[in-house]
Amino acid sequence: LKHFLTIEGLDKQLLLEILDLADSFVGSEDRRIKKIPLLRGKSIVNLFFENSTRTRTTFELAARRLSADVLSMSIATSSTSKGESLLDTIRNLEAMYVDMFVVRHGISGAAHFIAQHAASHVSVINAGDGQHAHPTQAMLDMFTIRQMKGDFANLKVAVVGDILHSRVARSDIQALNTLGVAEVRVIAPKTLLPAQVETMGVTVSHDLADGLKDIDVIIMLRLQKERMSAALLPSESEYFKCFGLTEARLKIAKPDAIVMHPGPINRGVEIDSNVADGPQSVILKQVSNGIAIRMAIMAMVMQKQEGV
Ligand code: CP
Repeated sequence: LKHFLTIEGLDKQLLLEILDLADSFVGSEDRRIKKIPLLRGKSIVNLFFENSTRTRTTFELAARRLSADVLSMSIATSSTSKGESLLDTIRNLEAMYVDMFVVRHGISGAAHFIAQHAASHVSVINAGDGQHAHPTQAMLDMFTIRQMKGDFANLKVAVVGDILHSRVARSDIQALNTLGVAEVRVIAPKTLLPAQVETMGVTVSHDLADGLKDIDVIIMLRLQKERMSAALLPSESEYFKCFGLTEARLKIAKPDAIVMHPGPINRGVEIDSNVADGPQSVILKQVSNGIAIRMAIMAMVMQKQEGV
């Protein structure tokens, strides 16, 4: 685990180690996270070629809690706007003795590409690449599920909405299957499912009311309009009518079901405000948990880098 690029191929033991390490960073009484000197003297650069609120900020807070020196580069005002290539940008940052890059990019495979070409002492963490993977989001989602539900073994989890364009869905489904949940059910219109959905280890429903029966955990997804051609864009009101999570529909799931969403949420498109802000929502808990999980992943990657 010199780099953390995808959930695919990681085993259950490693995922549980990450969850346990993250747990160790959380205060037992107030759940706040203390500052520790684990990465003192290390330099981490957040390279976000795509916008972010939660991921970038929690990576930055996590690095600071580990006592690393961290900076978030503003790509829009960097010399990439003057035509400098991605690799030249990386080479120049490496010359500043950077130890780790946290990369978000709109192109699937961008973090892998940087990992392949980075200097041997540098680690890369994927903070979301195109439609491919968002592995740290998946780990904070698993952390939140374990926090709320305990064991994974008997859980039925629904992933609802725009599966086709969602890197969160892909990484969540891989993590849930690796951790051994009873069922991962995707609920979506046919137009928002990938062609190879039957190879993803999921059951499929095209009907939200029917699909929510017996469900313990509901992961709602944003309609990723920025990744759709205009011809494929559904009407938001029509989409909400068929696939929006309302209080009435939430009642179809188990009474203690939790509602998750990676954010940003589109109120009234995939989720009703009463549900997003309601008692079963753990959406803001997910955000808080992002700090501990990203601390754990950065700490594990850096320890591996040093051969510990
Ligand atoms: N969940 C998530 O990746 O949110 P941001 O795009 O705000 O980082």
